[in-house]
Amino acid sequence: MTDQLIVFDTTLRDGEQSPGASMTRDEKLRIARQLERMKVNVIEAGFAAASNGDFESVRAIAEVVKDSTICSLARANENDIRRSGEAIKPAASGRIHTFIATSPIHMEKKLRMSPDQVLEQAVKAIGWAREYTDDIEFSAEDAGRSEIDYLCRIFEAVIKAGATTINVPDTVGYNVPEQFAATIRTLIERVPNSDKVVWSVHCHNDLGLAVANSLAAVRAGARQVECTVNGLGERAGNASLEEVVMAVRTRRDIYQCDTRIDTTQIVPASKLVSGITGFPVQPNKAIVGANAFSHESGIHQDGVLKHRETYEIMRAEDVGWGANKLVLGKHSGRNAFRSRLIELGAAIESEEHLNHAFARFKELADKKHEIFDEDLQALISDEAVTPELEHYRLVASCFHSETGETPAARLTLNVGEKEIQAEAEGSGPVDAAFKAIETVARSGTELLLYSVNAITTGTDAQGEVTVRLSRDGKVVNGQGADTDIIVASAKAYLNALNKLHGKFEKLNPQI
Ligand code: KIV
Ligand code: ZN
Repeated sequence: MTDQLIVFDTTLRDGEQSPGASMTRDEKLRIARQLERMKVNVIEAGFAAASNGDFESVRAIAEVVKDSTICSLARANENDIRRSGEAIKPAASGRIHTFIATSPIHMEKKLRMSPDQVLEQAVKAIGWAREYTDDIEFSAEDAGRSEIDYLCRIFEAVIKAGATTINVPDTVGYNVPEQFAATIRTLIERVPNSDKVVWSVHCHNDLGLAVANSLAAVRAGARQVECTVNGLGERAGNASLEEVVMAVRTRRDIYQCDTRIDTTQIVPASKLVSGITGFPVQPNKAIVGANAFSHESGIHQDGVLKHRETYEIMRAEDVGWGANKLVLGKHSGRNAFRSRLIELGAAIESEEHLNHAFARFKELADKKHEIFDEDLQALISDEAVTPELEHYRLVASCFHSETGETPAARLTLNVGEKEIQAEAEGSGPVDAAFKAIETVARSGTELLLYSVNAITTGTDAQGEVTVRLSRDGKVVNGQGADTDIIVASAKAYLNALNKLHGKFEKLNPQI
């Protein structure tokens, strides 16, 4: 048993399965770069067979990320596995993660297969995967509700066939720590050649126990934990990466292992994922919540001032808080700007791209004297929109809001090749702006979420707006940032419409 715990991040796959968290290829690339910077061991970059877009995203990540293993999920069928195999080909280190359900309810009601047929299919899947890579993970979906004797049988067979990581998912978040730990311990004891593979766990948070179950499994011998940034994921989410990593690090005495994670990248990763998906982080969330390290009570403040460890078990700076120092200002030059963008993981595609971003930075610096990393991140997000995906663009805007008057918006929009004027009144200027856009777009969408966050502190901060729209079962998030929150709102609405405009179809791997 090694003392290294492998951190397998599935933000880009299971995380993306949260309704409304779907991401574009460029957004996934930015997150993947941040995960690599954080030194995540394995990045589950997507489910390559789900759609052409997913295939392209996994492939693009496999092309650029070199310091983490790139993994694609595949159901245990030949087509899924070959799509995954092709998608991970450019990776310096690539993994295929194949799965099939093993609980009686899933085998009988969902797959309509007998346990013997499931076992046979799993073994065949490993055979197909071996044509592409030696790094093969097998998951017994709904292992948390599967029979232990059957799990032993199927795991023995897939290990014999060549699987190198065996994952035990609590797919529906039904397990509790003592029981889950006992399952892992029993499997490691009973499955032949269990010492030749890495035992992994993948816990969902339906009972709020995903992290507790994962950590209990580590105590029982699991050496890979599957998790997501901010605990994003199907339904109540997955085990949160930051909580697992910091628990193991802070209580090394208990867990007897460590990760290779650069913990100072945790908060930047959390902010990036929250900004891109539009899923806010609750202020009291462990590690990455805004209040996670702030002490309100006088007694606590006094204690911390006298001796930090009276009330703090971790240092805020160790997880990346306080890194949002002033980085650039109005007088910063192009080189300083370029270097900081590179440090933040932005892909600068050409000099023209850099010049454009620099001009926008100067405009922002005129309005807002102090520019922080978060401002640059927002600027990169805006820049990342490729022109062909930008069917709608805000050219100019004028808003009217006065006591006793009806709020109104007048917008100039670029729609495809045309410039169009749009006007509307509303219950407030944001409502008027959205209505004005709809006079042109007539999108037939439903607004599911509208949220505004200040990117940094101060009244001159940029507002970052998320707009979630749905149409025909498809849900997208749009983001926009500006020092004027009405402008940010209009940009976010247009960004969401642009995402709906670009066609993408995808499957959910659990279907
Ligand atoms: O929750 C689950 O079972 C999964 C598998 C595909 C690993 O996400
Ligand atoms: Zn899952």
